[in-house]
Amino acid sequence: MRSINIGLSDEQRQGVIDLLNQDLSDAYLLLVKTKKYHWDVVGPQFRSLHELWDEHYEALSTNIDAYAERVRALGGYPVGTVAGFLQHATIGEHPGDIPNTTQMVSRLMENHETIIRNLRQHLDACSKQFHDEGTADFLTGMMEQHEEMAWMLRSFIEGQSLEPSNIRFGIEDRQPAGTN
Ligand SMILES: [Fe+2]
Repeated sequence: MRSINIGLSDEQRQGVIDLLNQDLSDAYLLLVKTKKYHWDVVGPQFRSLHELWDEHYEALSTNIDAYAERVRALGGYPVGTVAGFLQHATIGEHPGDIPNTTQMVSRLMENHETIIRNLRQHLDACSKQFHDEGTADFLTGMMEQHEEMAWMLRSFIEGQSLEPSNIRFGIEDRQPAGTN
């Protein structure tokens, strides 16, 4: 096979490929978890979350393809088995339970935050340790997407925590005039 001559050593390329395969695996697990909650969600926020998670699924699917093809562009092979994704991922699964809506949102948000922290480290390593500014830029774009998805999920949870005070104000509003 013709050697790859793009200004990176084999060791540098391999270091980057390893990081990309970890990020690919985390994205794949998150893709599966996002789709599962798209199916399972119930309650007043059903339509919003059902549709949001479909959008996130589509975005993650596109990103997974981009990770895998970047690995190929650097001369490596992407992880491509379920066992491999589980082995390389840093986020976990929650088999056999159906959490409530807030727990679903919270779990996915925390997974996005874990991935954001990983990507922040990885883009730094790509730039400083492996001198691969292209992948550092690529990972920066991925991190920004996860930051936006995490913000959307966080907003649902913050909306939940506002409800008790709204209810309390509603009760106070119903007090007859002149009672205080
Ligand atoms: Fe669907």
